[in-house]
Amino acid sequence: MSEGIPLNIHCVEEVSSTMDVAREMVAASTRVPFALLAGSQAKGRGTGGRAWASPRGNMYCTICVPEAMVPAEVMPVLPLVAGLVCRAAIMELIPGADVHLKWPNDIIHNGMKIGGTLVENDGTHLFIGIGMNVAVAPPVTDAGRPATTIHNIAEAAGVKSETVNPRQLAALVWRHLFTTVNDNTITRAELVRRFDAAMDKSLTLHRRNGAERGEETLTAVRLNEWGHLTVRKPDGSEETLMADYLF
Ligand code: BTN
Repeated sequence: MSEGIPLNIHCVEEVSSTMDVAREMVAASTRVPFALLAGSQAKGRGTGGRAWASPRGNMYCTICVPEAMVPAEVMPVLPLVAGLVCRAAIMELIPGADVHLKWPNDIIHNGMKIGGTLVENDGTHLFIGIGMNVAVAPPVTDAGRPATTIHNIAEAAGVKSETVNPRQLAALVWRHLFTTVNDNTITRAELVRRFDAAMDKSLTLHRRNGAERGEETLTAVRLNEWGHLTVRKPDGSEETLMADYLF
């Protein structure tokens, strides 16, 4: 049951990037909404055009949704919703798991990265890209934070890791996403509140300047009504970030 939207997941082996192949599928009139789940990616991409390491064993998925399906309340905070539904999916598989979010698009456990999301559009469709470390924690290649896996979290929580796989995770993300999108009562304020509550505010953050890590240490304070993040600087002053990515 996916809140009225039947599960429609296309599973493939290696692709270039699920973002690019999903766009080709839309052009070929594939029935939407759909999810494309790949075993690995040769050219996976992350935010800011960075490469996203995509070895076998993890979840590489793009969910394609017609823009018209997404309510006006949800659209401005869709990148935050992407993180929320990934977190909800992991916590459904591993009850009690200590999964948090790092603004704007990272899924975190104990300060380590579990995955990230990337939202793109082509004017008529939204492409919600999700990469989650299920079995493999790729080495840190830039100044980013270390990674962990959902299998590590499961084992620590006493859940057998073999019961957690990318297909099952994708199905749960699908269900949580469409439950949110189809909820006529949901407000932007509520979605922002949920993301704010799910953030790990104990993290020390740094601005991402290309591949460089900004020297200034920042801590997350709160989200404003549009989901922009106010951070506190070492001198106690605050600044609101709108389009930054953070280490
Ligand atoms: C980030 O930089 O944290 C976002 C990473 C998003 C990676 C996913 S993996 C599936 C989809 N295909 C891609 O090429 N990227 C996204």
